[in-house]
Amino acid sequence: MEIIRQASLLHPLLSEYRDQGFSCGFVPTMGNLHAGHLALVDAAAERCDKVVVSVFVNPLQFGPNEDLATYPNTPEDDENALSAHGTAVLYRPSVEDVYPVGLESQTRVEVPGLSDILCGQSRPGHFIGVTTVVNRLFNQVQAEKAFFGKKDYQQYLIIRKMVSDLAMNIEVVGIDTVRLDNGLAMSSRNNYLSASEQAQAAWLYQVIQDTARQYQDDPSSASAILDRGVDELEKKGFVADYLTIRRQSDLNEPQAGDVELVVLAAAWLGKTRLIDNLEFVLT
Ligand code: PAF
Repeated sequence: MEIIRQASLLHPLLSEYRDQGFSCGFVPTMGNLHAGHLALVDAAAERCDKVVVSVFVNPLQFGPNEDLATYPNTPEDDENALSAHGTAVLYRPSVEDVYPVGLESQTRVEVPGLSDILCGQSRPGHFIGVTTVVNRLFNQVQAEKAFFGKKDYQQYLIIRKMVSDLAMNIEVVGIDTVRLDNGLAMSSRNNYLSASEQAQAAWLYQVIQDTARQYQDDPSSASAILDRGVDELEKKGFVADYLTIRRQSDLNEPQAGDVELVVLAAAWLGKTRLIDNLEFVLT
């Protein structure tokens, strides 16, 4: 596995791959890799000849009171895991390399509307930071396909819309969430949870599943079902940010006739904000 720290060194290597006719799959990450990230790497390796993984903790997507300074950093474990999963290139740039003009002067990319709802409402500016960095990384890596986890469902849809709206020449592939045995979605932020909180955190997915089941039985009672779900979360010790049912395609409220839906939730457990979701189809 090649480890590259500067974009200027990435270009020659990746053009060599292209000249040799290899296809490239890209997995952008912020490091502290877990089984969820490695599922993205494996999916990329199944579909592409060479897998490029970036590890970059993007300051632009963290709010002033968020966890940028304490975001878990495990470079050696990440390198070992990526190399064991057949990664060809680990791109680990510095902030200066990704944002050579400085954070303030950096041109931003915004997907309006979709970036302002749900997590965008609680984390203003977060998705502008995500789309800006992903756009820049896409341009640096120039892969044919990029792989994103559906645990970050809103992020996944925003990236797809950015790629479509800007006619970017890359295919965005969404990969299913990887879960612990108790149902808790894998996330780097699970590291912030104590052992007892990790067990408690599994209730988030439980409530999401119950919500989807109840809605399938009786879509006309959506608001009562969601109220019950929020009550349940609070009884289990969460402070709910949102619990909602939306259309899979654009995260708008479902209209009559919409069948491809998703339950999305965000909730605080102590100082940790967790998100999760479940796609379902109304039959
Ligand atoms: O999902 C993440 O880890 C980040 O938001 C991403 C896509 C790597 C951009 O920094």
